[in-house]
Amino acid sequence: MLEVKGLRKVYRSGSREVEALRDLTFTVENGELVCLVGPSGCGKTTLLRCVSGLLDPTAGDVRVNGQAVDGPPKGMAVVFQEYGRSLFPWMTVRDNVELPLKQKKVDKKRRAELVAESLDAVGLSGSESAYPWQLSGGMQQRVAIARAVAYEPQTLLMDEPFAAVDAQTRADLEDLVRQLWKRLGVTILFVTHDIDESVYLGQRVVMLSSSPTVVQDELIIDLPAERDQLTTRAAPRFIELRTRVYEQIQAAKKNTGK
Ligand SMILES: Nc1ncnc2c1ncn2[C@@H]1O[C@H](COP(=O)(O)OP(=O)(O)O)[C@@H](O)[C@H]1O
Ligand SMILES: [Mg+2]
Repeated sequence: MLEVKGLRKVYRSGSREVEALRDLTFTVENGELVCLVGPSGCGKTTLLRCVSGLLDPTAGDVRVNGQAVDGPPKGMAVVFQEYGRSLFPWMTVRDNVELPLKQKKVDKKRRAELVAESLDAVGLSGSESAYPWQLSGGMQQRVAIARAVAYEPQTLLMDEPFAAVDAQTRADLEDLVRQLWKRLGVTILFVTHDIDESVYLGQRVVMLSSSPTVVQDELIIDLPAERDQLTTRAAPRFIELRTRVYEQIQAAKKNTGK
């Protein structure tokens, strides 16, 4: 279980202070798929950096299965917003996916299996020997997802992973995430600024206000587990839920006087 309690982050540079996060409290149960939605600049990336132990919070704490996070937690993988910069251009797809497994000291035979399985899962079998720059944006993002999946994480954090791909690719990748989540039983915290995406993907949506950022509300997404781009997005319940999220985020803006 992932617990975020009273999380606050103030960036300080010289005499300038930016309060990126004011007070965040929420939990994600093991095996859950939770979306965190909030406007650009509200501190979503800051939050994920604190959760993944890359950044020290100013106050509050983060726990993974009861353990306080003070460095990158074991069993956690992150898919970043800027996939272009997260893959090594001089390494093939295979080597990019394999690298974290070497760091984890997985033996060679098992590494080969995991790389093959994860590339297959994202539909990239056959591209093992390509270099990232030879692939489209959507394919590069699938390599980044394969790399995270091959690591066999218990917890997967995703930071607006589809912000830079075209709409059709984005829809395919959303379905891929739900498919992988169901198959692997992994806990996913998926961060997005896109309200429709959060409702389509999540079992639960945590809404953030604009800055100074607090948790505005949470909503259970009681849509059927089998989702598809056409029927789910056209369902009356989907429209109701997205309206609720939209209203909450508008209300949050008013509260902070923006
Ligand atoms: N390293 C940093 N130093 C100072 N301010 C930062 C730093 N990183 C982010 N910020 C500020 O913190 C706020 C939240 O940023 P960020 O977490 O990137 O938001 P989001 O991911 O939701 O767009 C913004 O106002 C941003 O300018
Ligand atoms: Mg961000």
